[in-house]
Amino acid sequence: MTDKDSVRIDPLTTEHLDEIVVIERESFSDPWTRGMFESELDAAVHGYARGAIQGRNLIGYILAVFIPDEAHIGNLAVHPAERRHGVAQTLLDELVRDAAQAGVRRVTLEVRQSNQAARKFYYKNGFIDIAIRKNYYRSPVEDAIVMYRVLPGDPSV
Ligand SMILES: CC(C)(COP(=O)(O)OP(=O)(O)OC[C@H]1O[C@@H](n2cnc3c(N)ncnc32)[C@H](O)[C@@H]1OP(=O)(O)O)[C@@H](O)C(=O)NCCC(=O)NCCS
Repeated sequence: MTDKDSVRIDPLTTEHLDEIVVIERESFSDPWTRGMFESELDAAVHGYARGAIQGRNLIGYILAVFIPDEAHIGNLAVHPAERRHGVAQTLLDELVRDAAQAGVRRVTLEVRQSNQAARKFYYKNGFIDIAIRKNYYRSPVEDAIVMYRVLPGDPSV
């Protein structure tokens, strides 16, 4: 069981790739490949990639791009054995804090329409549905819901 207080958030590096790939395959029917993660971790200029570490183990991760006043979350997953202990919450809180400091005012993401766990997680965190991307996903084909959250300080709202 995860003790939330013992989880720390660190930058993801290529040293985490083996653990990332295991969590990814357990988490998605259409997982990102190892090569996709390698590319993301290389894109240091705009990329944001953080891992939740407990002891010596990676138990979750979040990847995003800041473009530049919007943060787009590309991936978020927590090891199945470590879910419902606040790990994703800790990862998102850290991203929001870092994003706000970097001048980001909006956070967006896509999620499978049927992914109720993730959608509930994002609703709890103030995200709303703003669009549908038809047949966005493969394996299986499914629509994506585009979700959106405004961060404090956006002068346009
Ligand atoms: C979605 C996911 C990242 C959530 O991770 P997590 O660490 O279990 O989430 P947390 O424990 O931080 O949850 C925080 C809150 O979100 C909501 N939530 C999270 N998982 C939920 C679920 N399965 N059902 C309903 N609400 C859920 C709850 O309100 C929860 O608070 P609570 O446990 O006090 O009720 C995780 O289920 C996962 O990795 N799923 C597979 C990958 C995925 O779908 N990623 C998102 C792609 S967009």
